Amino acid sequence: MTKPRLHVNVDHVATLRQARREAFPDPVEWALAAEAAGAQGITCHLRKDRRHIQDDDVQRLRERITTLLNLETSLDPEMLDLACKSHAQAFCLVPENRQEITTEGGLDVVAEAARLREAIPRLKEAGGVVSIFIDPDLRQLDMAMELGAPFVELHTGAYAHASGPAQTAALERLARAAAHAAQIGLRVNAGHGLDYQNTTKVAALPQVEELNIGFAIVARSVFVGVARAIGEMGKLLA
Ligand code: PXP
Repeated sequence: MTKPRLHVNVDHVATLRQARREAFPDPVEWALAAEAAGAQGITCHLRKDRRHIQDDDVQRLRERITTLLNLETSLDPEMLDLACKSHAQAFCLVPENRQEITTEGGLDVVAEAARLREAIPRLKEAGGVVSIFIDPDLRQLDMAMELGAPFVELHTGAYAHASGPAQTAALERLARAAAHAAQIGLRVNAGHGLDYQNTTKVAALPQVEELNIGFAIVARSVFVGVARAIGEMGKLLA
């Protein structure tokens, strides 16, 4: 078992910048500091409402980071077109709802099968590795496989927000989903809501290749700086 790669989501550095519509703090500079501290990939989500990451950020990240850019995108035609032009090395298809504070659930690949059947080959053609952000549900995994996605990113939010026996049950669900995914030939990433308390058990799932973590690391960096925030999380993945 190798430890998963740490991919860091920089959306909430942009959230802080957009709170004042200033030029700082710059998510690109933060991403470079994260890479220098050991982040193995940078993730961002260009939302249709542009609440945090802006179009220009995606381009600047792609030009300046030296690991890889994982761009989260919805199936909205405008966003998909932008993703295809972004030259990102990885894409994660996510659901998007304008009212939500953050991505709330996984993408329903069964309901969205028709749009995914078009989107996945387009994104592959654009040169990126494709994953679909889904709940740890076996039927969703089977459909993701059928649609030709090489990767899924398992939504860890239900686990992250639970406690006690409910959290243990949610972890078991993630473990079953990860094992099923590997058995049917899907590769597995995971993320959402992971923090300095709950990450270790997800990182220990043997099939998980990459964790996408944003909010907790950005929040911690306010107190201890980017290098320490990344370093502390990196140790939890070991
Ligand atoms: N993975 C996906 C697909 C997401 O949409 C998000 C949130 O943007 C994350 C991971 C990171 O979640 P968090 O910011 O809670 O760590």
